Amino acid sequence: MWKSKRKILEYSCLLFAVLLSPLANAASPAQPSPDDQQRILSGKYISTAADCVACHTAKGGAPYAGGYPIESPMGVIWSTNITPSKQYGIGSYTKEEFARAVREGVAKDGHHLYPAMPYTSYGQMTDQDISALYDYFMTQVKPVDVAPTQQTKLPFPFSVRTSMAGWNAIYSNAKPFVSNPQDSELINRGNYLVNALAHCAECHTPRTLLMGEDKSNPFAGAALGAWFAPNISSHKAAGIGGWADAELYAYLRTGHVAGKAQAAGPMAEAVEHSLQYLTDGDLNAIVAYLKQTKPLAVGDQQARYTFGQAASTETAMRGNAVLNVDPGWKVYSATCAACHGTKGEGTKSYPSLFNNTTTGAFTPDNLIATILYGVHRKIDGKDDIEMPGFGPQASYTERLSDQQIADVSNYVLTSFGNPQQKVTPKQIEVARQGGPESPLVAAARIGVPAAVIVLVLIVLAILVSRRRRSNNKAM
Ligand code: HEC
Ligand code: HEC
Ligand code: HEC
Repeated sequence: MWKSKRKILEYSCLLFAVLLSPLANAASPAQPSPDDQQRILSGKYISTAADCVACHTAKGGAPYAGGYPIESPMGVIWSTNITPSKQYGIGSYTKEEFARAVREGVAKDGHHLYPAMPYTSYGQMTDQDISALYDYFMTQVKPVDVAPTQQTKLPFPFSVRTSMAGWNAIYSNAKPFVSNPQDSELINRGNYLVNALAHCAECHTPRTLLMGEDKSNPFAGAALGAWFAPNISSHKAAGIGGWADAELYAYLRTGHVAGKAQAAGPMAEAVEHSLQYLTDGDLNAIVAYLKQTKPLAVGDQQARYTFGQAASTETAMRGNAVLNVDPGWKVYSATCAACHGTKGEGTKSYPSLFNNTTTGAFTPDNLIATILYGVHRKIDGKDDIEMPGFGPQASYTERLSDQQIADVSNYVLTSFGNPQQKVTPKQIEVARQGGPESPLVAAARIGVPAAVIVLVLIVLAILVSRRRRSNNKAM
């Protein structure tokens, strides 16, 4: 009796499995050819690879319901609700309207989105992927019938959204990705992931005066508020040319490579929400693509992970008269040594501060930002990675002053990292405010040029709409 019941159960399981197998294949992110990938990857996977959730979810809020602040040099831009709520989200968007918003940065009602929404990258998304993504949002995402609490209010002239049309004319190019027949399938897949979905260039490519991507210096490194997204071109000293493929893979999968680098700040978010969930095939494709990018000698002249060694001034300091003690060492000894070791050697759980891209870089930005904001990263199946920040969010007793952070930075740089770097308290003050402001804002602040900026952008917009029209006529 029991046996036959089990047989029935087994048979029904088998039947079920057979019935479901086409579905399972369609959803399983195995490693098919790049062409197949586009067809079979589910919209959910595309959404993960494109990291929609990172920007469209408020801290502790419902997924995709918006209200996440994005610091831009022009001010804070708040993300919107993209759940399929008819009233507050994108529930009434048709597939075409959705495609236009994601690829061209124009909302259903015609208003222009700010490029904090990375439509300049998503512009390359294929029709199939957009279609799968739309179906995923409309059928799988739970509608949230609430508007985000904050709305974007940029100062004039940036409040004039129409001016984005002019900007788009120069910097946006919504053309679905086509494989380059000269490249292997792996490189093509990597190209699509890096440039269209995972939008690496949005952070790692320097910006022009008008805040567009500087296409002549792809992946050459760029400031990102208080953080710095380093050069990840294939250059051996300035970029990631000296990393082993397996190291790059591990960095993208976990955000950690012992004796080399860790992911903090915006990169930790990319790893946490998106990159750790990509298939092996896709991560390998990204690595292969990065390794063959044009090597750009911008930034570091010596590979940033090669600097420093274990060093301690502990005994010398302790034996010294109190007056001569390096104030940076004092902070280090009291605040950092417990985790990173008195010689900066780290432990099994905490990284060494020598052979660390953050202390060997040509800019101390990431060192300063790490001390101010800490490191926070969640990887599935592992303990959370947590370094406390010592900036404004720290408890009163743990907070460090601008002077203390400058001192400890200089101590770390001289003892373990790139000794040519020097940090001043002024730099800490700027980093606390989210990094230097855009030259555009500085110009607007002076007054007169504000009108000039708007005028230039609007003139550009008019030129573009003319060009579009004459294109249409020609067609
Ligand atoms: C880097 C941050 C970021 C990422 C990643 C991102 N978005 Fe956005 N998105 C924004 C911001 C900010 C806005 C609002 C822009 C504005 O108000 O001008 C926005 C607006 C939108 C809108 C317009 C909705 C409306 O009516 O305001 C849609 C649709 C949208 N995003 C979809 C997506 C999808 C789909 C993805 C993933 C493929 C995605 N976004 C990824 C930041 C982001
Ligand atoms: C939201 C912005 C952002 C995005 C998107 C992003 N990065 Fe990063 N990336 C950073 C920042 C900031 C750092 C520095 C992090 C640190 O040192 O803690 C970084 C660091 C790195 C590093 C380590 C470099 C070093 O020398 O330490 C690699 C490699 C890297 N990113 C590759 C990528 C790739 C590949 C993509 C796309 C798949 C990507 N990043 C997308 C911001 C970003
Ligand atoms: C409670 C333990 C702890 C303390 C205290 C601590 N750190 Fe860290 N630190 C960490 C952890 C954890 C990481 C990240 C490890 C990882 O990403 O795998 C880290 C990472 C770093 C990094 C690399 C960040 C990057 O983006 O690559 C630097 C630099 C650093 N710490 C410097 C300091 C300095 C300077 C101090 C003192 C002001 C300090 N830490 C105090 C635990 C700590």
